[in-house]
Amino acid sequence: MEKTLVILKPDAVQRGLVGEILTRFEKVGLKIVGMKMLVPTNETLVKHYPDELGDIIGNKTKQDWDKYGVEYTESAEEIGKIILNATRDFMRSGPVLAFVLEGGHAVEVVRKLVGSTGPKDSLPGTIRGDYAHLSLGKASIARKGAANLVHASGTVEEAKVEIDLWFKPEELYEYKTAQEHLTHA
Ligand code: CDP
Ligand code: MG
Repeated sequence: MEKTLVILKPDAVQRGLVGEILTRFEKVGLKIVGMKMLVPTNETLVKHYPDELGDIIGNKTKQDWDKYGVEYTESAEEIGKIILNATRDFMRSGPVLAFVLEGGHAVEVVRKLVGSTGPKDSLPGTIRGDYAHLSLGKASIARKGAANLVHASGTVEEAKVEIDLWFKPEELYEYKTAQEHLTHA
């Protein structure tokens, strides 16, 4: 049994997609074991999206821009910093809904339902593929963090760290769902 962190980002809340998105996780039988609405602090977001992520973002963005012949003067490191800060700013541009889901292989299953990072490249049937179409490249040309609706922990280790960052132990609950004899082994 695994737990994973999901955050419905400000675009999901402001577009009125909370119910639609939440229902997808409930329908596959994942159990909601904690939930809260908040505007995250920059301090939380710096821990959630650490500085190291900037290098990864910078290199990916540079590759994208080179592929499409975008003109820029910044280094990959500078681009990474700009997009990382824009992502953090976007995440605190309005309230978000954070929740913890529990189930077998919850981390992997939730990532599958969410889709890939860029909505343009996310398959139909995934949350990012069904409710958005923006490309990471387009958003980064505008020096914006991509509005891709959902955050989901990438690995089991990441999930543990993120759940500790966003939730206190007493904010997580243990209970039985009416269906877990059928949805869980
Ligand atoms: O969210 P996910 O794990 O799929 O992607 P990530 O590589 O961990 O990046 C974290 C977040 O940074 C993404 O969900 C986007 O919101 C943002 N990002 C972006 O806006 N533009 C990029 N080129 C890369 C990431
Ligand atoms: Mg990630």
